[in-house]
Amino acid sequence: MRLRSPALALILSSCAYPSIVCAEQQQPFILNHEFPVREDPFYEFRWPVHKVGIIGAGVGGLITYRTLAQAGYDVRLYERDHHPGGVWHYTEETPLNAPIPNLPVVNADYTPSLPPNGTRLPHEEEHFQVDENWLTAERKAHRLPKPVWASLKSNAPHIPELHWPEDLPWEISAKQLQSYVRAFASYHSLNTNDENPNVFYNTRVELIEKRFIDGRHHGWTMTLKEFIQTGPQSYKVKWWTEDFDAIAIATGRYNSPSVSPITGLAEWNDKFPENIHHSRQYRRPEGFTNKTVLIIGAASSGAEIAAELNTFASKVYLSTRVHPHPHYPLELFIPFIPKNTTMIPEVKSFNPLGTATKMSEGTIELFNGTKIAGIDHVLVCTGFRYTYPFLPQYINPSLRGNETASEGPQPLVTDGSHVRSLHLDLFYIEEPTLAFININGGMQSFVYAEYLAAAAASVWKGHAKLPTQNEMWRTYSQRLRDFGGIFEKHWLFLGSGAADGEMRYFVAWVNEAAVRYGGKQINGPSKA
Ligand SMILES: Cc1cc2nc3c(=O)[nH]c(=O)nc-3n(C[C@H](O)[C@H](O)[C@H](O)COP(=O)(O)OP(=O)(O)OC[C@H]3O[C@@H](n4cnc5c(N)ncnc54)[C@H](O)[C@@H]3O)c2cc1C
Ligand SMILES: NC(=O)c1ccc[n+]([C@@H]2O[C@H](COP(=O)([O-])OP(=O)(O)OC[C@H]3O[C@@H](n4cnc5c(N)ncnc54)[C@H](OP(=O)(O)O)[C@@H]3O)[C@@H](O)[C@H]2O)c1
Repeated sequence: MRLRSPALALILSSCAYPSIVCAEQQQPFILNHEFPVREDPFYEFRWPVHKVGIIGAGVGGLITYRTLAQAGYDVRLYERDHHPGGVWHYTEETPLNAPIPNLPVVNADYTPSLPPNGTRLPHEEEHFQVDENWLTAERKAHRLPKPVWASLKSNAPHIPELHWPEDLPWEISAKQLQSYVRAFASYHSLNTNDENPNVFYNTRVELIEKRFIDGRHHGWTMTLKEFIQTGPQSYKVKWWTEDFDAIAIATGRYNSPSVSPITGLAEWNDKFPENIHHSRQYRRPEGFTNKTVLIIGAASSGAEIAAELNTFASKVYLSTRVHPHPHYPLELFIPFIPKNTTMIPEVKSFNPLGTATKMSEGTIELFNGTKIAGIDHVLVCTGFRYTYPFLPQYINPSLRGNETASEGPQPLVTDGSHVRSLHLDLFYIEEPTLAFININGGMQSFVYAEYLAAAAASVWKGHAKLPTQNEMWRTYSQRLRDFGGIFEKHWLFLGSGAADGEMRYFVAWVNEAAVRYGGKQINGPSKA
């Protein structure tokens, strides 16, 4: 008998983080991928998967490493930063200024740095007496300081394997969460000081290319760059390549700033770069004491930073777009905003500065015609874009939301607002030996990664079966039709109800395969 689970109609019951209740915004979610059954034709991998590279030592990459290593894969982990933790590795060092206007999406995070032409790899160089400012910029671009601030409170659930202490409050400091993620890394010998020969910190993935054996595609080659600052004016750098059968990309969602193309903002930024910052650079409120601050964007970052600045700044303008969105309505963030913050509509233009010698001499104009002067600082809290600079062959910025590629591979990234062409938001349909961990919004990264990693471990072993490529594209197209036919930034948003449904799907899929072929069974998500 063919067992088909009916499409499950799930209702979103709350937002990503359980402290936020958003019943009014509930959206129907159709879990429209069917459960593969034994007799179905399935996708057959063209080479066996033994060796897997993981990019990123945030919570997603760490969980994926543990899962794959325990499943018997030969695993390597690469992290550009000098510590594990991902977003939760707070440092006082701030990222570089966000480019204004936005850079093309392919190099919006970094421009890959490849070994000098013609060098045999591995290739190492050591440099002395270099310009300190250049070195600082180079270090920051390599490691990318994370977009969190000193007072940030977080509300992540515990990794299923590593319970929180009983009396821990739901909201904890980012610093505590950082220690927790590092404890998990240490527990699995993945921390910086564990001397695990399979884990590489300070190492950025620059390029992933298809590897060919006898003219046939057989796995992937990664080009890696280790960058270590050895003194105030010296550094060493090493490039090498490594071959893999499969790659798990756990590089996070917040590496590339997104800055709205507001008329005149670039001119203001060119003239006063020290007064205009993206939220990723915000660390503390003290620098804004007695200043007038314009915050653009009123979602989590904008609203929380506005709240913190309010007792320091003399005035805070918080600019928001007017259209409501079901997943992120303004009311979610408004309760955090103190009364003496002035909410303003969208900024139409930053007017020409002429001979202004201070930014506060300039004026901005809002879409309702209001003009505002006297702004000392601008904080751009307009979010981030997805990009994978190491996979330029799968980035096609020329495609609009309603277009697909007419030739060549279907892209992963177009304008950076979403990631496309994935089965279960996990496997790249064109090449399912590439998997993406934690790219969804509206789910709990600390838990969700467990199920993605378990699915990848089972699928790459040939246990859990992927449908054929045609079938994966068919369900994918149906999902796009259900979504309205146009890719946009909420394409990857799940919400807790849908995330729960997806996790249960992964559990059933992986466990059915484990019963059949052996291997570890996994538990369903806890309701606690
Ligand atoms: C301001 C802010 C507040 C948040 N608050 C919460 C919260 O309260 N609760 C919650 O659950 N979530 C919160 N999040 C979401 C947060 O992203 C997740 O909790 C979690 O960090 C996701 O883990 P990850 O491993 O998927 O990605 P990340 O933590 O982003 O880790 C990705 C890692 O990949 C590395 N990397 C990237 N590119 C490369 C490369 N080319 N080569 C090598 N390494 C690379 C990065 O350096 C990083 O270490 C917040 C995010 C932000 C920005
Ligand atoms: N404590 C916490 O849990 C916490 C704190 C901070 C951040 N975070 C997380 O970090 C991630 C990033 O959050 P974020 O707030 O930085 O980015 P975000 O969620 O992408 O929000 C960006 C906001 O900027 C708005 N915007 C864009 N262009 C604008 C313009 N020209 N004028 C006015 N508004 C504009 C967007 O509105 P449109 O929708 O109209 O584009 C959106 O509301 C999220 O996952 C968030 O949950 C969590």
